[in-house]
Amino acid sequence: MTGWSPDSWRKKVALQQPSYACGEKLDEVKRNLSSWPGLVSVPEIQSLKQHFSLAAQGQAFLLQGGDCAERFRDCTPEVIASKLQILKQMALIIGWGLEKPVIKVGRIAGQYGKPRSQAFELCAQQEIPVYRGDAVNDFHPSFGARTHDPARLGLAYQFSSMTLNFMRTLSKQGFSDLLNSKTIPLAPSVPHAVVSAYQKTMEDIKGALGFMESMGVDAAAISSLEFFTSHEGLLLDYEEALTRRSNGSWYDLSAHMLWIGERTRSLDGAHMEFFRGVANPIGIKIGPDFSGSEVVKMLDQLNPDHEAGKVVFITRFGADRAEGIHALAREVKASGHQVVWSSDPMHGNSEMSTSGKKTRSVSKILSELQTTVLALNDHRLPLGGVHFELTSDDVTECIGGLARLGHQDLDLRYETWCDPRLNQAQALEMAFSLVDVLGGKSHLESTFPKLTIKSSQTSAPTDVLS
Ligand code: PEP
Ligand code: CO
Repeated sequence: MTGWSPDSWRKKVALQQPSYACGEKLDEVKRNLSSWPGLVSVPEIQSLKQHFSLAAQGQAFLLQGGDCAERFRDCTPEVIASKLQILKQMALIIGWGLEKPVIKVGRIAGQYGKPRSQAFELCAQQEIPVYRGDAVNDFHPSFGARTHDPARLGLAYQFSSMTLNFMRTLSKQGFSDLLNSKTIPLAPSVPHAVVSAYQKTMEDIKGALGFMESMGVDAAAISSLEFFTSHEGLLLDYEEALTRRSNGSWYDLSAHMLWIGERTRSLDGAHMEFFRGVANPIGIKIGPDFSGSEVVKMLDQLNPDHEAGKVVFITRFGADRAEGIHALAREVKASGHQVVWSSDPMHGNSEMSTSGKKTRSVSKILSELQTTVLALNDHRLPLGGVHFELTSDDVTECIGGLARLGHQDLDLRYETWCDPRLNQAQALEMAFSLVDVLGGKSHLESTFPKLTIKSSQTSAPTDVLS
């Protein structure tokens, strides 16, 4: 990679970085991080890239999800297990419904740094720095707590490591806990229609597994789980310190997949410079204000060799502007690059509730998903994945859905430290609706009109492969 080194980003403008008072303290943390083992392994990263090469052709489906901002205090066995459980439940619904492998990627074990639109906020008549994620400062609203502290980068590594270690122990049981469970592991607030669709899906899957076993087919895959980690590659001191060389390539061993956020994806910026040099699969968030020529230059920079499964385009246009995906799809297709098209229908659909809380509505989220599928379909490109902010907790942060949460409910359990997440009921409903939108088998009747999807959603059309 010409002119690239793990620290070549330092010659560029790095947006959204913490400002530390003490350079020496930061140097010490970076020395520690550089000496500690990587959190993930090179073969795991390569395996994810292979899965993505299938998703780019419509033969596998990426499910990426988790908190907007992960918190150190949530590193408990119960919380980690429940984060995995909702993704497993959705993966079963989507995999069964679409009849393709689901690639499970959590916003987990490192999603501790947040880009923010404003550097300061007003709190009790005082201007204090905004919360930028546990890797940077404390959520507590005081000047002292919000001061950027480099020691938190070391803590971010340690909490990521503990989280990942526990995830690895849980992955040994695969899906067997969900399929063999005598009780239905859903919150009492999940609407009856969703519970019933969930039960029917589990019964279908169990029936199919039973049949496979009776025919002598090994159904053991269901009892192991391949699970990947991801976070926004925002804090470049951290990412640089965890980047290591292996077999002639550089890998960022902080997570399997990193993504570049909408606010830091400028072509000449430090983030693009850093991520062009690492061999991990890279996501790029793209909003409606993209420039066509820039997008193609971005792809040329990040993936000059047109490596399959290298780039995931995560579109986040907002329901009202999602038609713009046509122009993006056209540009990318004309460039000859192949990417995984993933839809993040959350970040372009944030709105302020009447009580001043940031929220998102399930109907807008679904509407963006639907418009995205149709737009890609017009260009014979498959939707290869989705990106959600969600939790399995019974929070009240997003409105709508079959449970009919309204603005007046947001105060009940609004727990996020950053963006509003789908709760368990809304996340499961979303999984069923997604399957429905894509023309798969869903036991939950969607409120959206059925789409006629061309074959590109289920198999790879030849012109996409060329
Ligand atoms: C996020 O994923 O939490 C985020 C900040 O997204 P975006 O960069 O798309 O705004
Ligand atoms: Co967010």
